[in-house]
Amino acid sequence: MTNFLPNKLIVKRDYMKSALIYFSNTGNTKEIADQIEKTFDPDVIELTLEKPYGGFISSVGRYIGEHISKKKTQIKQNPQDFSDYDVVFLGSPVWAGTLPNFLQDYLKESNLTGTTVVPFITASGTGKEATLKTIEDILPDSEIKNYFFKSMREKNDVDAWLNYLKKDFNGIDS
Ligand SMILES: Cc1cc2nc3c(=O)[nH]c(=O)nc-3n(C[C@H](O)[C@H](O)[C@H](O)COP(=O)(O)O)c2cc1C
Repeated sequence: MTNFLPNKLIVKRDYMKSALIYFSNTGNTKEIADQIEKTFDPDVIELTLEKPYGGFISSVGRYIGEHISKKKTQIKQNPQDFSDYDVVFLGSPVWAGTLPNFLQDYLKESNLTGTTVVPFITASGTGKEATLKTIEDILPDSEIKNYFFKSMREKNDVDAWLNYLKKDFNGIDS
């Protein structure tokens, strides 16, 4: 007697759905975000703050103050469920050696389960490994892949990285 198993219904998209989440205070991270947007046409979530930081000096002073007082910086955008996305590009500057606190909070309060996260980070020079570690710790249910880091010291080539991504994410919907 044959044990007849019905075919499992497999629902599979033939394209990859992508999102781009980023924060940029002075435009360096935004430059890369704009190129990602042009290349992959993702759904874009630019995180903006209720009270913007302004230039470098005032930002550093305020951020340190907030860190000491444990004051929460309010982001205008609500955390979201991103679990339906295949790929999430995640862009940020390094602040105080890692991802800014408010961005960490936003990611913790969102759902990125099952996504492939591609971080792109800009900095003056430090925080490369620590920032990646923070992202990995915050998003244990995502695959962190193709990390891109650019600083004054390490001027990595964005175009080369994008070309690599195009091949890697062959089926991306663009
Ligand atoms: C509050 C604050 C803290 C920063 N901390 C660091 C740091 O720890 N290490 C570093 O290399 N750069 C640091 N920077 C520099 C930024 O990471 C760098 O200028 C980045 O490219 C800015 O990106 P954006 O133009 O997208 O905001 C800091 C900048 C600010 C405003």
